Amino acid sequence: MTDKGAKPLKVTDTVLRDGHQSLLATRMRTEDMLPIAAELDQVGFFSLEVWGGATFDTCMRFLNEDPWERLRQLKAHIKKTPLQMLLRGQNVVGYRNYADDVVERFVVKARENGIDIFRIFDALNDVRNLEKAMRVAKREGAHVQATFSYTISPVHTVDTFVDLSRKMADIGADSICIKDMAGLITPYVASELVSKLKAKVKLPVQLHSHYTSGMASAAVIKAAEAGVDVVDTAISTMSLATSQPPTESIVATFKGTPRDTGLDLERLSKIAAYFGEVRKKYHAFESNFVGVDTNVLTFQIPGGMYSNLASQLREQNALDKMGEVLAEVPRVRAEMGYPPLVTPSSQFVGTQATLNVVAGERYKIILKEIKNYVKGLYGTPPGPVDPHVRQLAIGNEEIVECRPADLLPSELAKAATETGSLAKSEEDVISYALFPEVALDYFKKRDAGEMLDKEVVAAIAAALAPPVVSVQPEGVAVGGDGERSPWKAAGRYMLARPSSWRHG
Ligand code: CO
Repeated sequence: MTDKGAKPLKVTDTVLRDGHQSLLATRMRTEDMLPIAAELDQVGFFSLEVWGGATFDTCMRFLNEDPWERLRQLKAHIKKTPLQMLLRGQNVVGYRNYADDVVERFVVKARENGIDIFRIFDALNDVRNLEKAMRVAKREGAHVQATFSYTISPVHTVDTFVDLSRKMADIGADSICIKDMAGLITPYVASELVSKLKAKVKLPVQLHSHYTSGMASAAVIKAAEAGVDVVDTAISTMSLATSQPPTESIVATFKGTPRDTGLDLERLSKIAAYFGEVRKKYHAFESNFVGVDTNVLTFQIPGGMYSNLASQLREQNALDKMGEVLAEVPRVRAEMGYPPLVTPSSQFVGTQATLNVVAGERYKIILKEIKNYVKGLYGTPPGPVDPHVRQLAIGNEEIVECRPADLLPSELAKAATETGSLAKSEEDVISYALFPEVALDYFKKRDAGEMLDKEVVAAIAAALAPPVVSVQPEGVAVGGDGERSPWKAAGRYMLARPSSWRHG
């Protein structure tokens, strides 16, 4: 740490969560995080965002890793800096509402395994979907960062976000996060929003933005001038494009000012070099969007959503319809009452828009998720749903007025029965409750892995056994390079593993 300013700007680095989620399809493996973890811990960050969002699902689905184990290992290496996660409110780390018992035990276990700060949001900004997670996190002694999904629409204004934040403060928020997942916030709106939040909500404010439209660094500067407490950045080699603004550039920007972060650029540049090398390994997962994407300003389509739309169209052999789909997304969004486009609304609005174009008739086919949304099963839409579309989607069915999760029966007991001996811990049961098929698949591979390990042990034992013909001991010594070397025996076995074992 170097000298801090009078009111130092605090920094959260996102490289271990949002950075690689945005740039490398969430594929960074724990083994590439641990070697640099202690160094990250020394920087003096306000927090490190390391868990939640899409990382939980991806660990099991593509990396054959236990997300809980990742968290425990990071906690063992990062001893001083608070660990932060992104929690999708009642959707936890999944794509639907879960029953309260799942939310409750997930938060308890996340806390127990190492999360200090819970950043909790809801795609529709329906506070009823945040309340359960907020109360449990608070009770467990964690920092509750209540979060709103920032968007632009006729029903969203600076004042509606301030009112929303007041409600979240009443439930017990310790801080407020502006979550600008699409990189839409302009520097001047950021300034106004931060000033009003600081004046009227009187809680620390953190700004999370994405570089997608090219404005995020400028937004950080104006937010800092307006008194924002913490900003999210990503180490330079994992920043820009759809990721966060670069950590070092922000640190350098405020050097010698009252908002000097006091963070050491030399230390940061070593970390940047490390991730620059790591990133090369994940080349196959790089998105096509490497620069500034102005579609986000014209169509309000977040970067990640753009590539999903393209791949949906490619599957339908209709990539030439991209222009029509881009124009259809804001139309569907307006008819849905302007939900912010973030998981899971970005998925179902995008898919419905694609269907509307590809099917040749709008709402000829209607997604189940759209029907549920219109019914109120995701919460209250920010604005009114178009009455004609409502009629098409659910006819005269009544709208759900209660908190959506009140309709859901408890899920964990059933999950425990269904997993049986495949679950080795309560964490496993929770993983299964969240992603049944993905978790079962992972548990089975893990069990098979334990058997593989036994075979490796047997191979090593066999290699170490006195050779039948030769009496010379050198060839069997540990680290020896003879054909009977246990490491070669184990190595052969590793190579025989299916390639999906490690590369998804
Ligand atoms: Co983000």
